Amino acid sequence: MDRVFTARLLAIACLCQACNSADLTDFERFALSFATLRPPPAAPTNRFANDARAAALGQKLFFDERFSPARPVPSRGPGATASVACATCHDPLYGERDDALRARAGSDARYQLREELGCENAPTLRNAAFSTWFGWAGQSDALWVHAARAAESGAELASTREVIARVLFDFYRAEYEAIFGALAEPSGADAEALTRVLTNFGKAIEAYVRKLTDTGAPFDRWYAGDKKAMSASAVRGAKLFVGRASCGECHRGALMSDSRFHDLGLGTDEYTPRGRVEGLALARANPFNTKSAFSDAASASPLTSATTSPRETYALRTPGLRNLSRTAPYFRDGSAATLWDVLVFYREAAGSRGFPGRTDPAFQPLRLSDDDLSDLVAFLEALDGDPLPEALVTPPVLP
Ligand code: HEC
Ligand code: HEC
Repeated sequence: MDRVFTARLLAIACLCQACNSADLTDFERFALSFATLRPPPAAPTNRFANDARAAALGQKLFFDERFSPARPVPSRGPGATASVACATCHDPLYGERDDALRARAGSDARYQLREELGCENAPTLRNAAFSTWFGWAGQSDALWVHAARAAESGAELASTREVIARVLFDFYRAEYEAIFGALAEPSGADAEALTRVLTNFGKAIEAYVRKLTDTGAPFDRWYAGDKKAMSASAVRGAKLFVGRASCGECHRGALMSDSRFHDLGLGTDEYTPRGRVEGLALARANPFNTKSAFSDAASASPLTSATTSPRETYALRTPGLRNLSRTAPYFRDGSAATLWDVLVFYREAAGSRGFPGRTDPAFQPLRLSDDDLSDLVAFLEALDGDPLPEALVTPPVLP
């Protein structure tokens, strides 16, 4: 058994050697191999996850402001309101490098509204298809589950399943029925039927969001053998990342997240859920989680093997690290304005903030020079993906 594993390791190491990625030790090459791009994992709890019709419908739902009641925007003056859609806070262009494309699609107006709503640090959904848990505390156990919860969450769409069903019935009935089957007149529908419609709304949106995945970054090209794709500084940063800076302790695996929860001492009691303990409790209590009758594969639910402990009261999910250049500010609380600020925080392991939890043992002060921090920033910037296809990020024509 052990010998088979060692042989596999060697085989992978040799393969990687063949594909170059200059100057790396076998360990560095091996550790970084997990971060290279691959297709997102299957999503068995949503049988529409790869359905093209569901994705096309999902894109419209994502941009449609009719699902949400207008909300006050005090910064625009007394009584001023604005309508929002998922795209208001999770602009799919956010994370793009192509400014012309952003401007053309009017994303700057949406960006401004994000600031006015105080949600400028809403996470990008680009590459969300790679995650197992959703929300900083992992309060949702699938993308469709979070999308359905987001529809009713006061901090997100602030709608109701009655309104979701009404707008679908009035504007999307034929499209919905072609995918999910008959859609009843909402005013006569029972609670279960309304929840079914809400979860189908989430499943269509997941099908769309799954398409917002990266196709490449300088790091991937460099790893595949293009020596010029990354600067010497970024190469030094890559070595530091999996070496002395020990970022890879937590940021490993696809897109550089271990899909686990860690406490960096940034927690406060102001958030709901505060961290993993409450997040997992919410995921379990949710009547439409991946184990419920609304799931298409309850046996594949990540809840089955999930555990937590009081140590994780303030622990948050390790985020992936692609497209950071366009997703400032950083951390859940947005307390780091730049990548440099993030790295200074890590260097000092600024745990002495009197916060009530216990920090992760892998989170320790680091002996890094300013030059090291610059190299790490250069490496993180080399993880920015190519622009997404224009058709996916442009607001679609709504019925
Ligand atoms: C007013 C702003 C706002 C709106 C509108 C909004 N969201 Fe969110 N969304 C957030 C914030 C803030 C978070 C982070 C919350 C958390 O993790 O606890 C989030 C988190 C998420 C996540 C988890 C991402 C991750 O990687 O963990 C998903 C998925 C999501 N939202 C989908 C949606 C969908 C789908 C809609 C529309 C139905 C929507 N959101 C509407 C602000 C918003
Ligand atoms: C102990 C586990 C752990 C280690 C070690 C670690 N991180 Fe993190 N990282 C996290 C967690 C958890 C978060 C989310 C924390 C939050 O938002 O409050 C995070 C957040 C980040 C963010 C912000 C991402 C965003 O979208 O807001 C960046 C950038 C980052 N880490 C880079 C690094 C780098 C570079 C290193 C090495 C110097 C490193 N991390 C070491 C667990 C870790």
